[in-house]
Amino acid sequence: MRIQTPLLSIISLLQTVRAIDLDIDSLLSIKAAAAQVAGDLAAEFWDPTSFSGVPNAQYAWWQHGAILGAYVDYWAFTGDDTYNENITIGWLKGVSPSLDLLPQEHAFDIGNDDQGFWSIMSMDAVERVFPETEEQKEMGAGFLEITQTIHNTQASRWDDTTCGGGLRWQIVTVKDGHKYKNTISNGLYFQQSARLAKYTGNASYAEAAEESYKWMREVKLIQDDFWINDGAFIPDCTTITPKRWSYNYGTIMAGCAAMYNFTEGEKREYWKEQLDNVLNATIATFIDPETGALKEIQCQESDTCNMDQRSFKAYLARWMGYTTQVAPYTYATIMSHLRKNAALAAATCIGEPRGTACGQKWNIGPQWDGKHGLGEQINAMEVIQNIIPSVSSNVGTIFNSNNGGTSKSNPGGKGVKNTMRNWRQIVAEEYRKYLLRDYVIKAADRFGAAALTLLTVGMLGGMIYYVVSENEPEDEPGPEPAPGEKLG
Ligand SMILES: *[C@@H]1O[C@H](CO)[C@@H](O)[C@H](O)[C@H]1NC(C)=O
Ligand SMILES: *[C@@H]1O[C@H](CO)[C@@H](O)[C@H](O)[C@H]1NC(C)=O
Ligand SMILES: *[C@@H]1O[C@H](CO)[C@@H](O)[C@H](O)[C@H]1NC(C)=O
Ligand SMILES: *[C@@H]1O[C@H](CO)[C@@H](O)[C@H](O)[C@H]1NC(C)=O
Repeated sequence: MRIQTPLLSIISLLQTVRAIDLDIDSLLSIKAAAAQVAGDLAAEFWDPTSFSGVPNAQYAWWQHGAILGAYVDYWAFTGDDTYNENITIGWLKGVSPSLDLLPQEHAFDIGNDDQGFWSIMSMDAVERVFPETEEQKEMGAGFLEITQTIHNTQASRWDDTTCGGGLRWQIVTVKDGHKYKNTISNGLYFQQSARLAKYTGNASYAEAAEESYKWMREVKLIQDDFWINDGAFIPDCTTITPKRWSYNYGTIMAGCAAMYNFTEGEKREYWKEQLDNVLNATIATFIDPETGALKEIQCQESDTCNMDQRSFKAYLARWMGYTTQVAPYTYATIMSHLRKNAALAAATCIGEPRGTACGQKWNIGPQWDGKHGLGEQINAMEVIQNIIPSVSSNVGTIFNSNNGGTSKSNPGGKGVKNTMRNWRQIVAEEYRKYLLRDYVIKAADRFGAAALTLLTVGMLGGMIYYVVSENEPEDEPGPEPAPGEKLG
């Protein structure tokens, strides 16, 4: 992967040498490849101290949550804690001050799916026992309590008035997406509820998971043939957007796997059947039969994937990996696809600007398709790191609260503001103590013993003061993207 550009051109001409020497049977080699793609992602597409976490304006806040999840797993699989401080910093930016993953700066843009990506990241941190800092705990920003808070706030948005149930896409009522019930919002809620049930043993979460899954089957977001649609419009959800996205299959798969794990007897049989069907549909839909490569079928070949869609394969890969861990009977099938794709993905990582950028198309052999971005980097990172359990045992273990999990439970958590209306009323002064602080964690404190040092950046603080002082949010600037075309 460290081949220099001039040399690379020669190699491309010869077409004989593989672009990256990833040996999928060698732990050292996989770790080195994961470190390279993770390093490139961090260097160009992640700034946890910034307003959105994703320095480039073409990326969205939800992708910061997705990045944090990727680095939590990176630490769990590789043991490399290089990024742990920045994970904590990014987490505190997203979570505070309202402790409900609706930061003031983004509150108007956030849909249930955006919030869901962050809360799935925090569930990862809970299950992997990612280290929490003392201040994080004192603030009430522990990973489990926030995941529970998101569960509670999303459960309170469950809407029986249209389509017989389900979560709407957008939270803010004046947005078009409020009239749309999409699979990713509901699929993340389903997966999160299932994982909370498995982790805590609390059957209430399992009931919520079952209700949301059965609703998705009922309205045919998940069809009887396991074609999984993008979403459906209120009032009755009979108008469906039939696009198929890899991350929708992934989130449903992981949720079914967690429910399979949590349940017993007939219920377990039911979830196994659902999981088998979703897994088979995923393979039939997204694995290119010629090359074995994962393909984002809706947009990849036509080069029309937007900045969100370019990263979707990452989450499918992540949740396939998760599925092998909590439903180990799927391990052989899934891991063979992941290993194949780790090799295919790594072979594309010869792109500009540094000769290590990964491409979007994994089905074109060892060449780079000219795509370079957050999506391509996180896709490669997830698929490569998720094969580590195939060469190393006892890494990336999924813990429960009764066998090693430590994050504090707060089943009644609601955050410090309940409704979208309230956030406008909360005085700016109250937010100032949290907004856009620089969180600096001393190296020695990484594993949670001592305090987090907080510094306020005056200039940025002033800017935010202005934003939150406004009485009314502006109407949405410009037209909203069509459902399924873009998140949040
Ligand atoms: C953490 O984030 C800061 C701000 O973007 C960056 O300067 C620093 O290099 C990051 N650390 C690592 C290890 O990536
Ligand atoms: C179980 O979860 C429900 C729903 O969030 C909550 O109301 C209840 O308090 C939880 N029970 C326990 C024992 O944690
Ligand atoms: C899934 O595919 C496997 C392999 O082709 C097959 O044996 C199995 O019966 C399928 N399961 C379902 C539920 O269709
Ligand atoms: C449930 O998940 C755990 C990992 O958290 C795994 O060790 C166990 O084998 C799974 N149970 C079943 C029935 O697959």
